[in-house]
Amino acid sequence: MGYKIAIDGPAGAGKSTIAKAVAKELNFVYIDTGAMYRAMALYFAENGIDLSDEKGVAVACQAIRIDIAYEDGRQQILLQGENVTARIRTERVGTLASQAAKNPDVRKKLSQLQRELAEKTNVVMDGRDIGTVVLPDAELKIFLTASVETRASRRYKELTERGESCNIEEIEKNIRMRDEQDMHREIAPLTQAEDAVYLDSSDLRIEEVTERILSLYREKAF
Ligand code: DC
Repeated sequence: MGYKIAIDGPAGAGKSTIAKAVAKELNFVYIDTGAMYRAMALYFAENGIDLSDEKGVAVACQAIRIDIAYEDGRQQILLQGENVTARIRTERVGTLASQAAKNPDVRKKLSQLQRELAEKTNVVMDGRDIGTVVLPDAELKIFLTASVETRASRRYKELTERGESCNIEEIEKNIRMRDEQDMHREIAPLTQAEDAVYLDSSDLRIEEVTERILSLYREKAF
């Protein structure tokens, strides 16, 4: 069993950027669990499986194969053997993933995979339920958040830099909707674990948040 750092928080709080930086600094493996929910959602969408059809989703869960690989240290996500890393990064797939994440079979399958991955090595894992459900015994837990306005403007910047046309009001609406869905679902809702450290990144630079997490790690580990 390796050392486990869990970073949970709402969409757009900067979890993946910061988790990646922390993992790089410590030479840990970074695991983006949101990407797994996105890949499952992509499968359902492309195979015409309606998320309200619980039986259909349960059967599909048996057939879906999600694998994680690393290319130049970057996580790649494979769906049925195909690399879908780029295709899952759209607003539409994010919204679908949040819906798919309510389903118990989807959660069971992915939580199991995530635990298996954490057993093998030292990890920084980010998501919504890592500190509460997936790795409740993680040695360091962070709850990373930021105001809705900050998260929306970061997302807007990211999308425009990628050359995608978007609208800030629309992004903000989408973030509020995802927060509502992720925080109020029945199974494993997004919530701060009792022993997690709360960090608000609204007025902090990436380097500052990363450094804060690294110093928490050093305090605990040594
Ligand atoms: O982190 P992200 O935006 O890529 O995640 C997409 C969706 O997946 C998110 O809205 C909720 C779901 N998710 C989850 O329920 N549990 C996780 N551990 C990670 C993501």
